[in-house]
Amino acid sequence: MKRIGFLYTRLRVEEKLLLDELKSRPDVEVVTISDDDNFFELNKLPAQVDVLFERSVSYSRGLYISRIFSANGVPVVNDPLVAERCGDKYVTSQLLVNANIATPRVLMAFSEESALAACDTMGYPCVLKPVVGSWGRLLAKVENRASAEAIIEHKAVLGGVNHSIFYIQEFIDKPGRDIRAFVVGEEPIAAIYRTSENWITNTARGGVATNCPLTDEIKDLCRRTAKTVGGGLLAIDLFESANGMSVNEVNHTMEFRNSITTTGVNIPAKMVDYAISKAS
Ligand SMILES: Nc1ncnc2c1ncn2[C@@H]1O[C@H](COP(=O)(O)OP(=O)(O)O)[C@@H](O)[C@H]1O
Ligand SMILES: [Mg+2]
Repeated sequence: MKRIGFLYTRLRVEEKLLLDELKSRPDVEVVTISDDDNFFELNKLPAQVDVLFERSVSYSRGLYISRIFSANGVPVVNDPLVAERCGDKYVTSQLLVNANIATPRVLMAFSEESALAACDTMGYPCVLKPVVGSWGRLLAKVENRASAEAIIEHKAVLGGVNHSIFYIQEFIDKPGRDIRAFVVGEEPIAAIYRTSENWITNTARGGVATNCPLTDEIKDLCRRTAKTVGGGLLAIDLFESANGMSVNEVNHTMEFRNSITTTGVNIPAKMVDYAISKAS
């Protein structure tokens, strides 16, 4: 019998699918742990489990609680080190650059003046992103110097501390879509195209999912990327362009509700197999 701790904030479609899958396994006992209702002592966990399956909606909650379980000897899916590498776009970009994996150019700046100079250096359009965030929120496509001045000032004056870390990324002229590849361990299992009229293609923002065949190029890029961040249950965002394929970011708490019938792959079953395989 394996005891699987299931850390959640809200039971979204994904969490319900994962819990149904876990509960269908004869040799598994599930302990659900809310990141809202519990507090955590550093050397005494709220439940004895053989693995923690982390599905918090919040990056910081998931990360801290994963660290506490990990510090008490419990394997966590995904490992907190992997969450740190994927949850902050700067960290991911830095690792990709070091590993020589194609990724859009990034400039970092920490004042309004230098951020503006970085946008000028990158050229227009360029993209400003919060280093921590998802669902395409608070991304800005900066078309010219006047909008750079306005967006940078708004971020510095109205944004929280996260917005004074300026992550400025090269804009990639992609063909009305990007690719989201799902990886288990280091192996890609499925991928979708996300097509949208909008330059932001997240399905949470109206992007439409269709099946994307796993080509050798996608598989190779995914394996190298997964290895670089430490492997696990990962969703990798890829861009196609005239200059080839590049890796935009890696998500460590993946959403997959639109991708199961689309790809014909039972993604939650493969995720559950992996989580169980990590149980101590
Ligand atoms: N540099 C870029 N060039 C072109 N499109 C981009 C760029 N960065 C982001 N996008 C679009 O915006 C979407 C969301 O950006 P992403 O970096 O994945 O942030 P999030 O964590 O919010 O998903 C991407 O899937 C892509 O469609
Ligand atoms: Mg993304």
